[in-house]
Amino acid sequence: MTETTDRHPPPRTHGLLVHAAARYDFLVWLLTLGRERAFREKILSFANLKSGEAVLDVGCGTGSLAIAARRHVGSTGTVYGIDASPQMLARAEKKASKAGLEVIFKNGAAQALPFPDAQFDAVMSTLMLHHLPRKGREQCAREICRVLKPCGRALVVDFGGSRNRGGLLAHFHRHGQVKLDEIVALLGEAGLTIVDSGAVVFRDLQFVRASAPC
Ligand SMILES: C[S@@+](CC[C@H](N)C(=O)[O-])C[C@H]1O[C@@H](n2cnc3c(N)ncnc32)[C@H](O)[C@@H]1O
Repeated sequence: MTETTDRHPPPRTHGLLVHAAARYDFLVWLLTLGRERAFREKILSFANLKSGEAVLDVGCGTGSLAIAARRHVGSTGTVYGIDASPQMLARAEKKASKAGLEVIFKNGAAQALPFPDAQFDAVMSTLMLHHLPRKGREQCAREICRVLKPCGRALVVDFGGSRNRGGLLAHFHRHGQVKLDEIVALLGEAGLTIVDSGAVVFRDLQFVRASAPC
C-alpha cells in the first residue's frame, strides 16, 4: 500500500524537474538495456540496507530505487521517497501499489527536506544532484546530514562527467555535471565523513558513501 502526502502546494526549487514520468522510465529502460532491476540492486548493494531501517530516497523520480529498497528493509522498515515533481510521484505511487509494497512518497525539495532531524538510518540520492545549481547542491548535502541519525549512512550516485553527453541526456544536464571530487567535497563540507567512493561500473556513474557524526 502506498500513502500519498503533501502534494500541494508544490515546493519552490531552483532544481531542474522532470515531469515526463513514463518517458523517463522508458529512457532508463533504454540506458540499462532492459536491466533496470539489476542496475537498482547494484546501487542498493552500496547502501547496505538492513531489515528494520528507515530509509529516504531524495529525488526519487518514479520510485524504482525506493521500491527496491523496501524489499531490503522488510516489513519492519520504512522507506520514504521525495521528489519535487508531482508527475514523477504519481507514477512512483502506481508502481509501488502494483508491486504491493508500502513506500511513502512526498512532494518536497531536496534543498529543504520535509523531515525532522535525525529520522533516517540511510539517505540515498541517485542521479539527482546534477539537476541542482551549486547552491542547491550545498543545501541538499546539509539537509541529508541533518535528517540522518547519528552514525547514519549517505549514498550519493551521479554521473562522473567523463563523457561528453548529447541527445537525450543533454537535456537533463543543463546545470552541469557533478564530478566525484565535488560530491566528496559537498558531503564533507556538510558535516559527513567520507567512507569511500568509486565507479558504479555502469556508464560513467560514480558513488560516494559517507557517514553522519556518531
Ligand atoms: C534524473 S531523475 C532521477 C530519479 C531517480 N532518483 C532515479 O534514480 O531514477 C532526477 C529527479 O530529481 C528530481 N528533482 C530535481 N530537482 C529537485 C529538487 N530540487 N528537489 C527534489 N527533487 C528534484 C526530478 O524531478 C527528477 O525526478
